Amino acid sequence: MTTACCPGSFDPVTNGHLDIIDRACRVYDHVVVAVLENPAKHSLFTIDERVDMLVESTSHLGVKVEAFQGLTVDFCRRVGAQVIVRGLRTVSDYDFEEQMAQMNARMGVETAFMATNPTYSYLSASLMKEVVRYGGSVQGLVPTNVERALAAKLRPDHEETR
Ligand code: PNS
Repeated sequence: MTTACCPGSFDPVTNGHLDIIDRACRVYDHVVVAVLENPAKHSLFTIDERVDMLVESTSHLGVKVEAFQGLTVDFCRRVGAQVIVRGLRTVSDYDFEEQMAQMNARMGVETAFMATNPTYSYLSASLMKEVVRYGGSVQGLVPTNVERALAAKLRPDHEETR
């Protein structure tokens, strides 16, 4: 039985993340989604909000969602995950992802990369926040609970975004 860990900041989760989590579920026996709580980094959503949005949007997949601090490899050991799964969108992702994968391998946990579904390859959590902040629509690019949460945080005075 192989357990995979899908780590990330998920600030917030996008349909690109969900696509990778969904595909990881088809390959591995168990999947644990690890949401990084990094006190040094300013996040739009609190750790509880990020975890809750993920729990709701992955409820059909039967994955576990947990917050963590510290090293991803330590989290993997704690939950018994043998592999880290990361999505690769473009070549610009590759340099940093390769560096992390090599470091994590040195610390004892291998990484498997999945090519992002081309439908979502241009998505990023930062882009979603920017589009909503300036009144654009992210419908179809994030789950509906996230769409609502983004609008509530970033456009509290506007009921609908374009
Ligand atoms: O969604 P992100 O921000 O691209 O995810 C990055 C993440 C959380 C996977 C990465 O920053 C991470 O693993 N952080 C935990 C600390 C750690 O293990 N650092 C060493 C990586 S070699």
